[in-house]
Amino acid sequence: MDAIEAGRRFLEAGPWGNWQGLERDQQRGIPAPPVEKPWPAEAKLVDLVAPEAFRSGTMPLREAIAKRRSRRKFTTAPLTLEELSFLLWATQGVKEVAPGRAAKKGAAPSAGVALRRTVPSGGARHAFETYLAIQRVEGLAPGLYRYLSVEHQLCLLREDAGIARKAAEACCKQSFIGEAAVVFLWTAIPYRMEWRYGVLSPKVIAVDAGHVCQNLYLASEAIGAGACAIGAYLQGEVDALLGVDGKEELTVYIAPVGKVKEE
Ligand SMILES: Cc1cc2nc3c(=O)[nH]c(=O)nc-3n(C[C@H](O)[C@H](O)[C@H](O)COP(=O)(O)O)c2cc1C
Repeated sequence: MDAIEAGRRFLEAGPWGNWQGLERDQQRGIPAPPVEKPWPAEAKLVDLVAPEAFRSGTMPLREAIAKRRSRRKFTTAPLTLEELSFLLWATQGVKEVAPGRAAKKGAAPSAGVALRRTVPSGGARHAFETYLAIQRVEGLAPGLYRYLSVEHQLCLLREDAGIARKAAEACCKQSFIGEAAVVFLWTAIPYRMEWRYGVLSPKVIAVDAGHVCQNLYLASEAIGAGACAIGAYLQGEVDALLGVDGKEELTVYIAPVGKVKEE
């Protein structure tokens, strides 16, 4: 099978019809993997603004959809912590921590928990982690952070004033990314999806990523900011920038965000 054919197989709907017949760890009774990656015990944590307290993001949905486009020109204005909190909530916010679904009708729920988020995910598996290359957010030192979605906090991974420029370099030198106030970098932990969907997981992860980025587009427009989906990046370089191994966790999608400079 050549590479193009392999790519098409990835898109085939056929396997979806019989995925239940495929061997998967959920059926083997193996407990569900954690819903969130643990963070270093010594890491500095930052409380985000709670969704109930948001004043941002009241633009009518129809207007946000109509305005949406890929934005590649940003002003030097920072985002507020509340605006960043709103964007994180819109893309990966946790609304409910629920018991895991039963593997079979009538069976006990799985040992794991399932997260209900502001975005959908196949089987509520939610395979993503959100990293942020922060350049200009009020009150935050520039650097690499990770969103702790269950806690609605940020975890500082390292301070680095050049982090957005490094992200731009790793995105095939798309220099506008280096002008963003913040760059969202989503990784996937494939096993979270494989536990339930086995061989079908790459497709489910790819489909899921679209929901997340579209919410970022719309939420950004709603605060006078803009986003641009980024699929052109060097896998090894971005994974190294985030400190992930490229196997058990790997970068799948990227989007810079900044206040919009009207063209
Ligand atoms: C999966 C995906 C990958 C993309 N990768 C890039 C990219 O690497 N660089 C870029 O400037 N735009 C990228 N884009 C943005 C597209 O170029 C853009 O969506 C398209 O031109 C349509 O324009 P619009 O979003 O303004 O409607 C990507 C969009 C998607 C959905």
